This record gives sequence, C-alpha cells and structure tokens, in this order.
Amino acid sequence: MLRIAVCVSGGGTNLQAIIDGVENGAIANTKIVGVFSNNADAYALKRAENAGIDNVCISPKNYENREAFNKAFIEKIDSWNVDLIVLAGFLVIIPEELVRKYPNKIINIHPSLIPSFCGTGFYGLKVHEEALKRGVKVTGATVHFVDEGTDTGKIIAQKAVYIEDGDTPEVLQKRVMEQAEWILLPGVINEIAKKEEYR
Ligand code: GAR
Repeated sequence: MLRIAVCVSGGGTNLQAIIDGVENGAIANTKIVGVFSNNADAYALKRAENAGIDNVCISPKNYENREAFNKAFIEKIDSWNVDLIVLAGFLVIIPEELVRKYPNKIINIHPSLIPSFCGTGFYGLKVHEEALKRGVKVTGATVHFVDEGTDTGKIIAQKAVYIEDGDTPEVLQKRVMEQAEWILLPGVINEIAKKEEYR
C-alpha cells in the first residue's frame, strides 16, 4: 500500500480527483493518509473531511518565523509515515530539508507544459493569463518531481491541451484541469504505487 499525503492551499479539485481515483480503483494500492493545508479557508480541507481523511491546517501566520513553520510542517508530514507527498495546488515553498528527506518522493502538478510558464510567480490563473498573452496555441499540464528549485525537478508526465479562440484564463484553466490535470495526476500516482521501491 502506497501511503500518500496531499498538500493543498485552495479549492482542491486535484485532491478530489485523487480521492475519486482511490475510491473507484483508478488508483490502486494507495491510501491517502493525510491532507495538509497552509490555508484554513481552503475548500480542499472540506473535501478531505467529507471523505473521512485526516486533515490539518498549519499556517505560517501562526508561527514566529519560517523555520518554526517548516519544522511544524515537516513534523506533521513525518507523523503520517508517508511513501509519497503530492503537491496539489500547494502555495508554500517546500523547505529544502523536506526535499532532502524525501528524495524523489515529492511530486507536483503544474498547469502548463514545463519549461513554459513555470517558476517563481507562476501559479494558478496567472499561468493561463501569461499563456494567452503570449498567444501560444497549445498548453497543458505537467507532473514532476520536486527538487530544491521552483518547477525544476525531473518531469514524470505531461498532457497537452489546445487553446481555443476567445479563451479567457478561467475557461482555459477549466479545460486544462478537465483534459489534463485530473487525469494526469491520478495516473502518475497509480504508476508510482506499482513500484516496489516506493512501498
Ligand atoms: C491547479 O491548477 C494546479 O495545477 C495549480 O493550482 C491549481 C490548484 O487547483 N498549481 C500551480 O499553479 C502550482 N504552481 P485545485 O486546488 O482545484 O487542485
């Protein structure tokens, strides 16, 4: 059984895709052992609650400095005894200590075809705004391993999505989620769960 923690900051539609995948068997041999949010208002926490999954909000705002927050974050993740950490719309910069502790065991979903439209500041709608501004015709989503950089880790899987005339950032975001993210991320977790070295 692959034990995963999912880290979230917002709506949690990717978390929902993972919950559904585990429930309907698209993701085999996997248990979501915890959901971590840095944001108390994240709807993702409600999704975890509804699915009966252990969930917690630990906000940097409640700690006197970044080190103290990072320590609490890492301690919580460690307490779940996880094989894989999934960043699904998580806005927090991952502490280097966590990356070193979990080499090739942290994955992230990003809503573009990396190396386009990624790195510091490229998050959520902003990614799609920039893609539309540049006039690209194809975008998509990427799942990659997390290293010490921002969106620089080894790419695991990508899926392309066409941009259509008249797309707004919101319309494009929804299409990228439906046609790429919600398929790609559960698929990658299912593949990782098959690997003996992860369990
Ligand atoms: C998703 O589109 C995800 O790819 C993106 O945030 C959204 C979260 O939505 N992540 C990034 O932009 C990371 N740089 P969700 O909370 O509904 O899953």
